[in-house]
Amino acid sequence: MTEKIYPDSGVELNKFVAKNYDKIMNTMSFGLYRGFIKKAIKQMDIQPNNSILDLGCGTGRNASLMAIYLGENGHITGLDVSELMENQFLQKFKGQSNISFKKQRIDQPFDLQKQFDIVFISFVIHGFPHEIRSNVIQNALTHLKRGGIFYILDFAEFDMAKMPAFHRLIFKKIECKYAFDYIERDWKAILKEAGFGHFKEHFYLKNYVRLLKAVKTEK
Ligand SMILES: C[S@@+](CC[C@H](N)C(=O)[O-])C[C@H]1O[C@@H](n2cnc3c(N)ncnc32)[C@H](O)[C@@H]1O
Repeated sequence: MTEKIYPDSGVELNKFVAKNYDKIMNTMSFGLYRGFIKKAIKQMDIQPNNSILDLGCGTGRNASLMAIYLGENGHITGLDVSELMENQFLQKFKGQSNISFKKQRIDQPFDLQKQFDIVFISFVIHGFPHEIRSNVIQNALTHLKRGGIFYILDFAEFDMAKMPAFHRLIFKKIECKYAFDYIERDWKAILKEAGFGHFKEHFYLKNYVRLLKAVKTEK
C-alpha cells in the first residue's frame, strides 16, 4: 500500500502485513482460516464457466480456491491496490491465462466495461467508512450481469456487547474502527435498497463470519 486514505482502516495494509498476509491469517485464526475459507468458497456453488470478479483480491488465495471449480471457459479477475499483493497474485497464477490481475481502487466508481456472473469481496468492505461502502456496492452492481451474484464474505451482524469477554477483547484488539459499525448494520436492507435480493447466508467461526449471497435483481 503506497498511501493510506482512510486513517482508521485496517484493510489498507502495511508492508509487513501485505507481505505475510496469508501466514498471519493462518496464525491469528489458530489454523482455522484454511478450513473455513475452503468451506465458504465451496458453498458459493461456482459453475465451470463462471466469470468472477474478486474485489480486493489480496494474494490470490481465494482465487486459487475458486479456480478449482472453474473449467477452461471460466475466469477470474482480481482487483487490488497493493503492489505487494499484486506480486503474490501474479506469482501464484503464472501461466494461467484465465486468471488475471488489475491494479484498481474499488472504493471509487470504476467501469471495466464488462459484466460478470459473480462479484466476490472477502474481508475488505468492513474496512471502509460507511459512506464509501456504497461505492463498493455500486461497483459490484455495475459489474454484475442481471441475475448475477454478489458474495460478501465478511463479519456477520452481531452485538459486541453480547460477545463473551475474551472474544470481544480479541475483536477490539485486531479489528479497525470501521468494523465496529459494520457489524451493527442491516446488510440485507442496505443491499436491497441498492438493487439486490434473494439473499442467502452461511455462517462460520462461531457465527462471527458470514457468506452473504445477494442476487442482482435490477437491470
Ligand atoms: C484484509 S485484506 C483481504 C484480502 C483478500 N480479499 C482475502 O480475503 O484474503 C484487504 C485487501 O484489500 C485491499 N485493498 C484495500 N483498500 C483497497 C482499495 N481501496 N481498493 C482495492 N483494494 C483495496 C488490500 O490491498 C488487501 O489486499
